[in-house]
Amino acid sequence: MKQAFTLEPSYRRLGHGADYFPEQWLKRPDILRRDLEDMQAVGVNVVSIGMFAWSFLETSEGHYNFDFLRERLDALHSAGISVFLATPSAAPPRWMTRRYPEIMLTDSYGRRRYSGERICHCLSSEVFREKVSAINQKLAAAFSDHPAVVAWHVSNEYGSTCHCPKCQAKFRDYLRNYFDNDIEALNQAWYSSFWSHIYDNFEEIEAPSPLGEQHCHGLVIAWKRFHSELMLDFYRHECRAIDQASKRQLPKTTNFHIFNGIQNGPDYFDFAQELDFISWDDYPYWHQTSHSNAYEAAGRALIHDFCYSVHQAPFVLMESSPGAVNWQDVCTLRAPGLQTLSSIQALAHGADSIQYFQWRASRGSSEKFHAAVMDHSGSRDTRIFREISEVSHALDCLSEAGLAGSHRHAQIAFVYDWQNAYAFYECEGLRKQKPNYFEILRAAYAPLWAQGIAVDLIDRNCPEEQIGQYKLILAPLLYSLPRNFANKLERYVAAGGHLTTGPFSCRVDENDLVFEAGALDPWREMLGLRLEESGGLYDSDAIAVEAYCAGQKIRSSARLIMDLIYPEADNCELLGRYASGDFAGQAAWIRHPYGHGSSDYFAFLGDADFYQHYWSAEIQRLALKPPVSAKLIPGLSLATRENGSRRFIFVMNFSPDPARASLETSVYDLMNRETVEAEEVFEIGAYGYRLFCQEI
Ligand code: GAL
Repeated sequence: MKQAFTLEPSYRRLGHGADYFPEQWLKRPDILRRDLEDMQAVGVNVVSIGMFAWSFLETSEGHYNFDFLRERLDALHSAGISVFLATPSAAPPRWMTRRYPEIMLTDSYGRRRYSGERICHCLSSEVFREKVSAINQKLAAAFSDHPAVVAWHVSNEYGSTCHCPKCQAKFRDYLRNYFDNDIEALNQAWYSSFWSHIYDNFEEIEAPSPLGEQHCHGLVIAWKRFHSELMLDFYRHECRAIDQASKRQLPKTTNFHIFNGIQNGPDYFDFAQELDFISWDDYPYWHQTSHSNAYEAAGRALIHDFCYSVHQAPFVLMESSPGAVNWQDVCTLRAPGLQTLSSIQALAHGADSIQYFQWRASRGSSEKFHAAVMDHSGSRDTRIFREISEVSHALDCLSEAGLAGSHRHAQIAFVYDWQNAYAFYECEGLRKQKPNYFEILRAAYAPLWAQGIAVDLIDRNCPEEQIGQYKLILAPLLYSLPRNFANKLERYVAAGGHLTTGPFSCRVDENDLVFEAGALDPWREMLGLRLEESGGLYDSDAIAVEAYCAGQKIRSSARLIMDLIYPEADNCELLGRYASGDFAGQAAWIRHPYGHGSSDYFAFLGDADFYQHYWSAEIQRLALKPPVSAKLIPGLSLATRENGSRRFIFVMNFSPDPARASLETSVYDLMNRETVEAEEVFEIGAYGYRLFCQEI
């Protein structure tokens, strides 16, 4: 288990701050001076600096000038504000990209990018690595022992994928290593007998491209894995440079950001192994026409839970927008209170620090209309400033009560596996537009989120001891299942665990080869069923599903995809059937008691309504209980954290209407400083929250 990140071990203070770009205001010393006063006024105690400041730090090749940074660090320190010092690799200076064009990435058509933009560089380029190493070393030598600096913020949102000859050569080396230099093993794994595209040697391998090979799934998946590892390797490269020149070792992180659409990003479970603490950038889509704010909030909570569960330790919310962003299709204003509530939610789910993007709104270029703590007028008399002051007040109350470093305990785990996503989104079949993996999890998660039942997220590498601690594991759409993960989960069920999976799960092994004995092969005995066919549905299709579970009738519908499954084991329970369409009457949900546990297979994708009923039945069957029971109406959510002697209870209202709720036990209201008795009804305003604690 990783150490919890705390700003000040002596006081265990929760963090509060923003990305701070003083380099944009160097000609305005008055503004730089005011920044500190405004930060103090709004309760900022930590800022991130430097992630896009390379041109100012290395003004021309080899000429470093850290004066402005030193001045800012000193000033921040005097004002009692700590710093996450960033390395600037996300945006190299123009002199560098002009002089060394090879550091710009090459796309899948072989076109090299022009100079400019950010996060679009070749991570294999020796020049780029050398330049990054040099600046990181200089920064570490200059500032690792600066009293303001508490951690390293390495780069910003890693995400480049480059197809240049160097990256392709590295890819071939990666494959040589992976396949032990055995081209025949690669041909077997990639099934390259198909279309007779056999590779005779590793030199023949080219990266996937719309101009070349892109249907060999093994190749495409390997390319994604390679890039994930390359990003991680680059992170390590940056860290090594910092370590080499540091006078004091400080914790390091990089900010995660791709959680929906994970097939396009690095594997964060792998990254998490290397980070000293987790941090992420949260940009919710509030006020959408497609779903409620409460449903949006459930999705954000799911990601917070990921960030907590990978280290089983608190994380930093590195970026969040204090108002409308500038890049969504429609950049909506937040309803009063929603911004504060969103920050409170991050704390409830395990954050120990709340940061915003950004401290001060820039006057020009791309992000000039992105919200900031300080708007262009520089006034404190704004709605955003007032809401952030409110967050600050809540952080003070929670810090004083001992929230920092406290934990969450999950009885349920969801499998959210990057390698599975890489494979699933490559496979051809079912539908051109595949179901969204994140949305599948969100539908299952939302009812648990509302009740305060914590969830961990795990992947194929989860240690067996950890797996054994969960009462239930949900693994929807686990298309790609390495034998060893299949075996781990089977042992978990045999020993008394409960696994829920399906549809289109357990189809291919770690090389994306269909199991020799067909669908579900490694789990056939455990699942007690046979799967024959899977197919896609049009967006407008809804095949009725009727199920009976714990004496309740549950209705749902199959959307997007469906399987045809058949009970095989004598002791199978047929819990649900299709109730309309060509397959009406056929099995849609089969439960199979196995060893000391049980497995469930859904042949369809349940929606949040379905899961509402499913969980209420499972909560009874498996005696799952939130740490505190509450009477909550839809739109409300409960979350808890514990610090050994005290439980913190967050009740949050993500609906536009005021609500009432009550808890089964008496609690102390941290903001109003009074006791609320068991079953006493209390109010929560529209987009409001209540913070309680109790001794345990
Ligand atoms: C983030 C990025 C920030 C800023 C922000 C705007 O993804 O890290 O630098 O651009 O988006 O919402």
